[in-house]
Amino acid sequence: MKRFIALLLFCLAAPAAHAQKFDALAKTPPMGWNSWNKFQCNVSEQLIRETADAMVSSGMQAAGYQFINIDDCWHGARDSLGFIHPDAARFPSGMKALADYVHAKGLKLGIYSDAGSKTCGGRPGSRGYEYQDALMYAKWGIDYLKYDWCSTDSLHAPGAYLTMRDALAKAGRPIVFSLCEWGTSQPWKWAANVGHLWRTTGDITACFDCIADHGTWKAFGVMQILDMQQGLRVYAGPGHWNDPDMLEVGNGLAPNEDRAHFAMWSMLAAPLIAGNDLRSMPPSVRSVLTNRDAIAVNQDSLGVQGFRYAVRDSVEIWFKPLTGGDWALTFLNRATSPRPVSFDWVHEPVADTLSKRDAQFATTRYQLRNLWTQQNAGSTARPLAATVPARDVLMLRLRKS
Ligand code: GLA
Repeated sequence: MKRFIALLLFCLAAPAAHAQKFDALAKTPPMGWNSWNKFQCNVSEQLIRETADAMVSSGMQAAGYQFINIDDCWHGARDSLGFIHPDAARFPSGMKALADYVHAKGLKLGIYSDAGSKTCGGRPGSRGYEYQDALMYAKWGIDYLKYDWCSTDSLHAPGAYLTMRDALAKAGRPIVFSLCEWGTSQPWKWAANVGHLWRTTGDITACFDCIADHGTWKAFGVMQILDMQQGLRVYAGPGHWNDPDMLEVGNGLAPNEDRAHFAMWSMLAAPLIAGNDLRSMPPSVRSVLTNRDAIAVNQDSLGVQGFRYAVRDSVEIWFKPLTGGDWALTFLNRATSPRPVSFDWVHEPVADTLSKRDAQFATTRYQLRNLWTQQNAGSTARPLAATVPARDVLMLRLRKS
């Protein structure tokens, strides 16, 4: 009896043995590349190897990009025991060899699956095979998993994503867990302990300001996605980010639109996952993706997502608090013609309740740096007056002087 009581007390006192997400990962928004936006289902080990090579030779790796993520359609079939294998025609050397290749360059390899029975591209999903799939990814040396939401029937999103989180934990390899549930069941409200980032919207498309209607589903332009981020910043922070989808920089937008897209994703502390062909990108595209000043805004260790302070005549004015008392400030001109902007610092009460920061322009002077020309741009001693070209940004960093 005594023994029984002791055992009972022990069981009641012991902490529940539950798995957790890998907490040390993604303290700043993940940076990398993903195959989907440019290549859709045309993935192969050759593309992944060449992209890894280009990631290094283009200077992307040096600018902070780390992950090479294979999206949908890498899959072959499950074997008789239920383990998944890559499509042998597309990945003849296998995933382990590919991961070794990518790791040898100091990069990390990501993969894609789906919580349902099939991926969006009709390949085998993980439903019912979560622990086996997680084991296989760990064995291959995978570092990042994007987990989609097609063919999920009546599955409950928080439960389905928890299952994969726990499976990854059991498999034991630290893997960044990217939830791709399109924001349908508001993952920002429940996923902070489940994954490291969660999609907030449906798919992006390479268009600055439009909606592409595909009948049963819609894809959204850069501005449409930006508008859908309203109200979500309170949910983001180190280790758990809002994901407004991967970049379309270099996929056909005009240079000014590419710049505005990249600037806003930096202000949003969004994951910076390039989606273009790194092997053939022109210098103009490379210079957008590797803009160190914009990347520093995105990767700032405070991890606070920016906010829209005001909208004046088609120009949105965004602020993002940064470490050390700095601020990033972006004027985004959404119009198709240039707009003059003026900003009289002392009369602008810029404060952020989330980070509890107040710019105090009336009493504090800041030096200004233009983050696209990478030149000094005066200070807050005088009102700012400038013209922002059509669909472009004026992006500044404010540093206390
Ligand atoms: C969904 C996702 C995309 C991409 C495709 C692949 O649409 O949202 O990002 O992964 O599936 O089929």
